[in-house]
Amino acid sequence: MQCLDLIKQRFSVRSYSAAPLEEDKLAEILEAGRMAPSAANRQACSLIVVRDELRRRALGEAYPRDWFWKVPAILVVCIEPARAWVRGDGKNYADVDGAIVMDHMTLCAASLGLGTCWIGAFDPGKVKRILGLPEGVEPLVMTPLGYPAEPIRAKSRKPASEVIHLNAW
Ligand SMILES: Cc1cc2nc3c(=O)[nH]c(=O)nc-3n(C[C@H](O)[C@H](O)[C@H](O)COP(=O)(O)O)c2cc1C
Repeated sequence: MQCLDLIKQRFSVRSYSAAPLEEDKLAEILEAGRMAPSAANRQACSLIVVRDELRRRALGEAYPRDWFWKVPAILVVCIEPARAWVRGDGKNYADVDGAIVMDHMTLCAASLGLGTCWIGAFDPGKVKRILGLPEGVEPLVMTPLGYPAEPIRAKSRKPASEVIHLNAW
């Protein structure tokens, strides 16, 4: 599949079928995340694969939507800002690094016919407790992972003329 076709095919899936997730597909998606680039190659990100039903159900308390936790797996991208690259003006790139990990995984999942949905609106304190995150490790984004039970949705995006500037703002 062409790269742009894949990007357009990925959409936020908020309805999942009960179909099981193949282990080789999960492994491929995790590998895509592991291969993500990071600022200064600091690799200050970790992935937690939550398959256990009790723990998925618990995560459903941090983001209370049934479609979020009633899936074969939830992927959680965690960051360690203290290990991430920091620019001269103090900007910490951990969030950027973590976002790339998630983007690689969501696109890889879409290429395999699987659905994902970036989840940022969760209660971070609950996620930290449920997943036993050590001091200094933060949950950045999560996604349910499973087969979509809804058709591909068309993209709603600003026109190129509004977002792309040539040479300067
Ligand atoms: C960083 C980030 C956080 C997001 N958090 C949520 C969320 O908490 N819940 C949700 O339903 N969608 C969430 N989304 C999905 C966006 O709403 C969605 O990507 C956007 O509306 C564009 O739709 P599309 O993904 O189908 O192209 C998030 C997306 C991003 C990139």
